[in-house]
Amino acid sequence: MNCVEILVLDFGSQYTQLIARRLREVGVYTEIVPYFESIETIKNKQPKGIVLSGGPASVYEEGAYRPDRAIFELGIPVLGICYGMQYIADFFGGSVVRAESQEFGKAELELIEQGGIFEGVCDRSIVWMSHADKVEKIPDGFKELAKSGNTHYCAIANPEKQIYALQFHPEVVHSECGGLILKNFALDICKCQNHWNMHNFAQTEIAKLREIVWGANKESRGAKVLCAVSGGVDSSVVATLLYRAIGENLIPVFVDHGLLRAGEREAVEAMFEEHLKVPLITIDAKEVFLNKLRGVRDPEMKRKIIGETFIEVFEAEAKKHNAQGEIKFLAQGTLYPDVIESVSIKGPSQTIKSHHNVGGLPDWMKFELIEPLRELFKDEVRALGAELGMPKEMLMRHPFPGPGLAIRIMGDVNEEDLQLLKKADAIFLEELHASGYYDKVWQAFCVLLNVRSVGVMGDNRTYDNTICVRAVEAIDGMTATFAHLPHNLLERISNRIINEVEGINRVVYDITSKPPGTIEWE
Ligand code: XMP
Repeated sequence: MNCVEILVLDFGSQYTQLIARRLREVGVYTEIVPYFESIETIKNKQPKGIVLSGGPASVYEEGAYRPDRAIFELGIPVLGICYGMQYIADFFGGSVVRAESQEFGKAELELIEQGGIFEGVCDRSIVWMSHADKVEKIPDGFKELAKSGNTHYCAIANPEKQIYALQFHPEVVHSECGGLILKNFALDICKCQNHWNMHNFAQTEIAKLREIVWGANKESRGAKVLCAVSGGVDSSVVATLLYRAIGENLIPVFVDHGLLRAGEREAVEAMFEEHLKVPLITIDAKEVFLNKLRGVRDPEMKRKIIGETFIEVFEAEAKKHNAQGEIKFLAQGTLYPDVIESVSIKGPSQTIKSHHNVGGLPDWMKFELIEPLRELFKDEVRALGAELGMPKEMLMRHPFPGPGLAIRIMGDVNEEDLQLLKKADAIFLEELHASGYYDKVWQAFCVLLNVRSVGVMGDNRTYDNTICVRAVEAIDGMTATFAHLPHNLLERISNRIINEVEGINRVVYDITSKPPGTIEWE
C-alpha cells in the first residue's frame, strides 16, 4: 500500500487533478481530499507536505472556503497555488484584493530569489496565470521570491514556517518549469519518497477495489460487480483490475451487436483470454440488433434502437447473474476528463458514487458505481493497461462509437452492406498500419454511402456502391481536422478497395473538418 507523500486540499480548481498528476510523474504518491477534510483524517494520512489548490472563490467573500487552520501546525511544508496562495496571504495577515485587470494566460516569471523551490528554474520562464484576485500586501515573515509583469507577488514564502505560495499554476503544461517547481517542493522541501509507479498504483487500486466490494459483504464475499466491456482501453482496464481484485465475482459482459469491425470480436476475446486472463462473457446478439434495425433509415432512430436494445440484452444477462440479488455494483471506465466539471469540491476523486450519471438503465439496475479510473488521464490509463498486460495494439486503438458500423452505413443496415463496409474498412486500416499513419491520426474508418455510380472495369460497365474514406486528426474528438494523407497512400487504398471488394466501384475521401462536420456521418 502506498503512503501518502503529498496531500492536496481541493478548493475546486479544474486543475486540481493536474497537481496530483505532475507529482505522480516524478514518482510522488499524492492524494486529493476536499479542503474541509478534518484535521484528524489529514494527520492519520501522515503526509510530508500539503498543497492548497486553486479554486473559483474569493478569500474576502463571506463563506470563502477555509481549511482547518491546524494544517499550519503540523510541522510540514505547505504550498498554496492561486486561491491557495491568496488564502495563505489572508490567513497570515496580508491582504487580497480584486485585481484591476484579470490575468489569464501566459506570463514571464521574474525570479527575485533563485534556488529553493526555484532550484534549476531559469529566469523569465513562462508560467500560466488564471486569476481575478491578487495579493496586495504580503504577511509579516513572508518574502517575495518572484514577480511577473502584471503581478507583483507572483511567488512568496515564509522559509521559517516552510510555507510557499504561487500565484501561477505550476501544474499546467504551459508553465514551462512547473513540473520542476512541484518536484522541488515535494522532493527537496518536503523530503518525499519518489517510489510511486503504475505497478504500485495497480496493486493499491486492486486492494481498494477488494475492500469496497467485499467490504460490502465480507462474510460471504458474495457481492458481484457488473461491467460492460466494449473492447476499448478504458473498460478493458477496469474489467482487468476488478478481476484481479475479486475474481469470479466480476461479471464482464461484451455485447456483440453485429456492428463491429472485421475481426473485432475475435481480437477482443483473444485479448481477454490470452493477455488479460479474464473470463469474458460474450453475448452474440447480432440477430436481435439486425432484426430491430431492419428498414430503419433515420440516423437518430438507429442510434435509439441500438441504445435500447443494448440495455435489453445487457439487462437480460445481468438478471441471469443476479438470481439472489448479489449484484451490488456497476463498474465503468470513466476518466478524469469526463468528470472534470463535476469533481470540484466533492473532494477526493471518489471511486464510488451514486448511479445518476448512467442513463437508460432500468430501475432495478441502479447499482452503486465503481469508477477506478476517475483520477487518471488517458495516457495514464494506457500505461496502466500496459502494466496489466494489454498488448500495445489494443492500447493505441482508435475510438469506436457504441452504435458501431450502423452509423457508418447511410440508410438501413443489412448483412450485405455490413459485409461490404467491413471488407473496405479492413483494407483501409491495413494500409494505414503498413504506412505508419494509423498512429498519426485520431480516427480512421470507411463509410458506406449507399450511392451508386457508373464505372468501367475491364470492358464492362459497372453500377455499384461508393465508399467514403475518412481520417481525422484531433486532440479529444471535440474538434477535428481531416488528415492530410499522402496522395499515393490514398491511391493505393482506393485501388485495393475497388479491386478487392466486389460491389464497390468508387472511393471518395472526406475533406470535412469538425466543425462544421462531425467525425461520424450519422
Ligand atoms: P462526432 O461524430 O460527434 O464524434 O464528431 C465524436 C467522437 O465520438 C465518437 N462517437 C461515439 N462514441 N458512442 C460512443 O461511444 C456514440 O454513440 C458515439 N457517437 C460518436 C466518435 O467516433 C468520435 O470519436
